[in-house]
Amino acid sequence: MTTLIKNIKYLYQTEEGSERKRVVAGAAMAQVPHIENAWLRIEKGLIHSFGKMNELIDSQYNIEIDASNSLVLPAWCDSHTHLVFAAPRDQEFVERIQGLSYEEIARNGGGILNSAAKLRQMDESELYEQSYARLQQVVAQGTGAIEIKSGYGLSLEAELKMLRVIRKLKENTDISIKASFLAAHAYPIEYKENKSAYIKLIIDEMLPRVAVEGLADYMDVFCEEGFFSVSDTEQLLEAGWKHGLKPKIHANQLHYSGGVQVGVKHRAISVDHLECVGDAEIESLKSGTTMPTLLPAAAFFLGIQYQPARKIIDAGLPVCLASDYNPGSCPSGNMNLLATIACTQLKMTPAEAINSMTINGATAIELEQELGTIAVGKKANLIITKPMNSINSIPYDFGNNPVKQMIINGKKI
Ligand code: NIG
Ligand code: FE
Repeated sequence: MTTLIKNIKYLYQTEEGSERKRVVAGAAMAQVPHIENAWLRIEKGLIHSFGKMNELIDSQYNIEIDASNSLVLPAWCDSHTHLVFAAPRDQEFVERIQGLSYEEIARNGGGILNSAAKLRQMDESELYEQSYARLQQVVAQGTGAIEIKSGYGLSLEAELKMLRVIRKLKENTDISIKASFLAAHAYPIEYKENKSAYIKLIIDEMLPRVAVEGLADYMDVFCEEGFFSVSDTEQLLEAGWKHGLKPKIHANQLHYSGGVQVGVKHRAISVDHLECVGDAEIESLKSGTTMPTLLPAAAFFLGIQYQPARKIIDAGLPVCLASDYNPGSCPSGNMNLLATIACTQLKMTPAEAINSMTINGATAIELEQELGTIAVGKKANLIITKPMNSINSIPYDFGNNPVKQMIINGKKI
């Protein structure tokens, strides 16, 4: 099966040659390589070749797509979501408007514990159906690869239920999906007075089961004051490594907690949130290969301070943007809106935002060899946009869906 996309106004994020880049960092983030008036050929779900229209050699194709006036770019790689959940938390949204903070709501038994109570009651098939619908929705908005976390189970059975739902999403869709084990998201009510017993439960009972069943790629911890401390996090990450789960953690959302440093020390694939980043965090990030991942849509929705993206990029580091789709702090997985927030609030340029949501997003879930750029042999997970001038139009035209057609694994969906 061959597909030709022709007359592409701009084909973005092209990569020539056989060397595949891992990240785009610092000043290089300001550029997105592209070809004007381009074609792209897909074979067996992969990018077979691409080039300029005036160099296209006539050939036979099963499908031809005319992309006149449209842009083509790699689908978004959303490296941080909590897309599997049982119910919205709109009541807490109203409570925050009325003055309560995210932490106060959590301390009163709302927040993650609220989600856990609802998830424990829901049967697996209903949880799957709801999650499947959310996944379809974000794909229609441009997402072609996604990471999904557990963390609303907080018991062995309920965490396994979440991870099985993620596995089923993986089996039943063509989207690239990675799973993170986040039992260390909050202390369940039953362990409120005995926190070390919960950590022991995670390490001695949950982790081995998750690993044996191959249900997760990564070990996540909500490293934050009032949640899991730096020393709890260290214990959990070491245990994760022993079972082959690499760390990808929540860090420095609400406090300068030492979360970034502990993530880098334990060779985390990424440290995510990063509202609280100063010189010490920057120095730590410069010493390793951990991807700084910013979740500004959550900061937007909670009305808290934004991440210092400029400081991170100006230090020569890469930045990744992810949605954090979850029922509490960010009930949206819309990466286009995320790009707008990154541009208007974090002062990232559109090009920096696009690099953050494609190649750097792919790297944050270790998929940079197969996704994130337009390169021969990579998976054909692509966005064909509605008619627009350039990538600037994506964050500019905010609130509207730029997607005209998604291609996943080489197929129109
Ligand atoms: O990434 N910060 C911790 N976890 C999620 C929120 C989870 C929730 O409130 O349900 C986050 O923002
Ligand atoms: Fe999160």
